Amino acid sequence: MKEKRNITIIDKKQIPSEEPARQYYFMDIAKKYVAELAEQKGAPLTFCVTTFGCQMNARDSEKLVGILEKIGYVEAPDEKADFVIYNTCTVRENANNKVYGRLGYLHGFKKKNPYMMIGLCGCMMQEPTVVEKIQNSYRFVDLIFGTHNIYKFAELIVTALESDSMTIDIWKDTDKIVEDLPVERKYSFKSGVNIMFGCNNFCSYCIVPYVRGRERSREPKEIVREIEHLVQDGVVEVMLLGQNVNSYGRNLEHPMTFAQLLQEIEKIEGLERIRFMTSHPKDLSDELIEVMKNSKKICNHLHLPLQSGSSRILKIMNRHYDKEHYLELVDKIRAAVPDIALTTDIIVGFPGETEEDFEETMDVVRRVRYDSAFTFIYSKRTGTPAATMDDQIPEEVIKERFDRLLHEVQTISAEKAGKLTGQTLPVLVEEVNGQDASLVTGKLTNNSTVHFPGTADMIGTIQNVVLEECKGFYYIGRLA
Ligand code: SAH
Ligand code: SF4
Ligand code: F3S
Repeated sequence: MKEKRNITIIDKKQIPSEEPARQYYFMDIAKKYVAELAEQKGAPLTFCVTTFGCQMNARDSEKLVGILEKIGYVEAPDEKADFVIYNTCTVRENANNKVYGRLGYLHGFKKKNPYMMIGLCGCMMQEPTVVEKIQNSYRFVDLIFGTHNIYKFAELIVTALESDSMTIDIWKDTDKIVEDLPVERKYSFKSGVNIMFGCNNFCSYCIVPYVRGRERSREPKEIVREIEHLVQDGVVEVMLLGQNVNSYGRNLEHPMTFAQLLQEIEKIEGLERIRFMTSHPKDLSDELIEVMKNSKKICNHLHLPLQSGSSRILKIMNRHYDKEHYLELVDKIRAAVPDIALTTDIIVGFPGETEEDFEETMDVVRRVRYDSAFTFIYSKRTGTPAATMDDQIPEEVIKERFDRLLHEVQTISAEKAGKLTGQTLPVLVEEVNGQDASLVTGKLTNNSTVHFPGTADMIGTIQNVVLEECKGFYYIGRLA
């Protein structure tokens, strides 16, 4: 049993039933509690949000930070804070193990700090076995919530602050999208924007549909409104986020395609760059390719996850495309946008993968020549169809294939890097270079990194830069 925090419990009278009003009501209450505790402590309460996993989670963390700052917590430089939150990922087993490992070390801090709270949220918390394990073996955790009720964070903080035991609130799924809650962006000039939540694809290896629920698209007018506000606030680049952006809009009252949404976003004045992820090959339309070809704002980069080059394995993966279709798509895209950078995700060692299947993957890698590729060792996720398939591949076989793939991918990336040397191209300046303060670092629209002499006031601006030299995976340039 934990000691109750020493706060004067507020009697809640007219709790609004509508969102987001209800959460703003709880933010006011939380703010009073945080102020009271800060006075006892003699210093502001601090927080640290640690994010695991994908850009979806990174964006969710910005929402958590938005609320924490709104209620009076101050960001700490590390996890020696009064409120530590782990926004977790469970896409591969090693993501889970990292969290358990670090929880032990957080417990050490907590024993020394009577104000400290530990919160866990994100995809891992949607797995009942995980929550059970935390309840049994990590009793010092204060708050657990999932992916569907993250908008309720303010309300959950109030419950946790008032409670002397673990607060747990996990929903199985939701059809709700709550708009207009506070967000604190990590970067002033670029932002992720959710266009949809969840996933309906059920690739047979993947746990995401189980932990993120069914696919829901946001209304286009809400997306456009959010981006307009972001632009007013200094954002020049957005990353549209969804597990399969190519199926955007199918479940809206007035259905709309992703290509149509992009055209609406393109019209937003002051917005300079549009990125998106992830594009599922099965739903990548000719309409989208046409829009990409004609767009002035969509970046020269497409992330197109392959997963496997073997049509046989793709079928068992439930990916709904085959090797030929994938290669055709690549040809079509390159014909429309000749200098586009292509990146991908590949899984090695899916159950039943033979040497021949693996060679098909290598073949696609050699034919497409990706600018870069994320390669993953297949990880068995309990509850997915692949987890119970016969013929799980022995570790040594996977490791050997993985090394071969990685070598191929890296050789090709190295050969492709530098192909823009000599050109003058726009660079969005992101930061002052960490090693050499006379340089700034930014990105080309194809996502390559460029360093060039510049000053901090350039951060967030787009500069024309001559790419003078390529060093490994980045360019050195000078202002044009
Ligand atoms: N929605 C995105 C992927 C999200 S998960 C898409 O469909 O492309 C990011 C990547 O993790 C996937 O592309 C896949 O390559 C990898 N991944 C997912 N489940 C995995 C598993 N069980 N083992 C290994 N890698 C996995
Ligand atoms: Fe997972 Fe497939 Fe959905 Fe991507 S599309 S999140 S790989 S189930
Ligand atoms: Fe991980 Fe969840 Fe993203 S499982 S990859 S954080 S959607």
